[in-house]
Formats: sequence, C-alpha cells, structure tokens
Amino acid sequence: MAYETILVETHGKVGLIRLNRPQALNALNRQIITELNAALDIFEADKGIGCIVLTGSEKAFAAGADIKEMQDFTYPGTYVDDFITSWERLSRVRKPVVAAVSGFALGGGCELAMMCDFILAADTAKFGQPEIKLGVMPGAGGTQRLTRLVGKSKAMEMCLTGRFMDAAEAERVGLVSRIIPAAELLDEALKVAGVIAGMSLAVGMMTKESVNRSYETTLAEGIRFERRVFQSQFALADQKEGMAAFVEKRKPNFGAG
Ligand code: HXC
Repeated sequence: MAYETILVETHGKVGLIRLNRPQALNALNRQIITELNAALDIFEADKGIGCIVLTGSEKAFAAGADIKEMQDFTYPGTYVDDFITSWERLSRVRKPVVAAVSGFALGGGCELAMMCDFILAADTAKFGQPEIKLGVMPGAGGTQRLTRLVGKSKAMEMCLTGRFMDAAEAERVGLVSRIIPAAELLDEALKVAGVIAGMSLAVGMMTKESVNRSYETTLAEGIRFERRVFQSQFALADQKEGMAAFVEKRKPNFGAG
C-alpha cells in the first residue's frame, strides 16, 4: 500500500510508523487512521517484527481528530459509520507498541498515545483533552484511559477545562514513563523498542496481555490469569534458552516462542 499520510520503516525487528500530515499538525482524519491501521496489520502479521514505535513530528505527535473533517458530522452519520471504532485497532495490537511523543498530543492524539503500551515523551511534549472547547468531549478513550492513568482529579480537570499538561507534569503523574530531550527522542524510542524486540516475541506478547488484564478484572482473577500464563511459559523454547543462557553465562538468542 502506498501511504500518503504516514511514513513506515523497519529498523531491524522494530516497525516504525510516523504520522505525517505536517500541514495539519498530524490531525487525524479518515485517511490517516485507515493508513495507520493498514500499517499495524502488516507489522502485526510480520513474524520478524517484535515491537512497534508510533511517533509524529517534532512539533506534533497529533493535534487531535481532524476538526475540519468533523465539523459537519451528524449524529445519524456518526452512528451508522460507527465513528471512532476504527481508531481502536491500535489498542488491539498484540505486540508491544511504544509511543514517542514530541510536541502536541491533544484530543484524539493524546488518546492514540494512551492506546500504546507506554509513552516516551520529549521535553517539548504537551498533552491535553481540549475537546470541551469544541463543544464535545473525548471520544476515543480519553475519559477512561486518562482517568486510569492519572487518577480522577487530574483527568477531570483536564477534560473539563481543556488545560494542557507539560512533559514534567505528565511524568510526575504517571502518564508517561520517561522524558527524553527532543533531539534524542526517536533514537531512544528505537533503542528501547529494539530491546523489547530482542526478547521472546511470545513472552513479550503474553506480558502485554497480562498487564492489560489488570485493567479489566479483579486482583484475584488477574493474579490467577498471570499465574496460568506464567506456568505455560515453561512450555516455551525461549524459557529453556533464556535460563540456559543465564547458567552458561552467555547472551540468550530468543525466537518467537
Ligand atoms: C484540523 C488542525 C488541527 C485539528 C491543527 N490544525 N489542529 N486541523 N484538526 N485538530 C491545523 C490548523 O488549522 C492549521 O492549519 C495548522 O494545523 C497549524 O495549526 P495552528 O493552529 O496554526 O498552529 P499553532 O498556532 O501552533 O497551534 C497549535 C495548536 C492548535 C495549539 C495545536 O492548532 C490547536 O488548538 N489545534 C486543535 C487542538 C484540538 O482542539 N484538538 C482536539 C480535536 S477534537 P491552517 O490550514 O488553518 O493553517 C478531538 C476529538 C477526539 O480530537 C475524539 C475522538 C476522535
């Protein structure tokens, strides 16, 4: 597929997707979501890819859903087309996905970043859910994921006022895992993703599934899920390889499982 709104590269076992509508600060329209989903499908199916990095430009990860496209939407139209549901593809990727956020991550841009497994933020990053200023509220998980990530008080304030959060505040409250100087963000994200992609693919995917399960279930059920998956890992060649490598004082050579 020839992409017009994203750039796609592979770096070893890492798949890199860059949102690329610079004239609109990567505002998320139908085309960019369609292309993003197509690229995710390809990386997901590719056994040689162990981790995906999603990034934008230096100025904007994404400044939100495309307001110019949305302004004439109608309720029956959004209902029949099931507007937003296609955005969820990212949250269903089973391989690890790292968001590298520089500049604005607003509205749907912030929501897209939160669908990734963790966020590395440039010191220039600004997060916000400013939809209320447009007469709507977040619609791609903002009221739900942001609340789980930063707690009710911060999420309420951000969603009700549209205030932006800078990188330092985002790190303090746990929205992002780390802050990196803007000029080094992509290199660092590729490095971290390379580390992840160098592990067992199956174990990385199972780890992601287990951490995500903690959002969906009780502690007791989550612990039970974790234990069953952990026990199943003793059936993997990668468990034998990882533990043998430790004992033999060498680097492990992991595969897909
Ligand atoms: C369409 C957008 C856009 C957006 C920016 N642009 N954000 N176009 N949709 N979300 C366009 C501008 O219209 C402009 O194009 C160009 O990008 C540069 O933007 P400027 O405003 O000139 O840049 P700047 O002054 O630096 O301000 C940056 C900004 C501002 C603070 C990020 O652009 C802004 O407030 N954008 C909207 C942010 C927002 O409200 N996001 C939430 C969207 S709603 P032209 O051609 O005019 O020069 C949403 C709903 C999600 O995300 C629900 C689930 C999908």
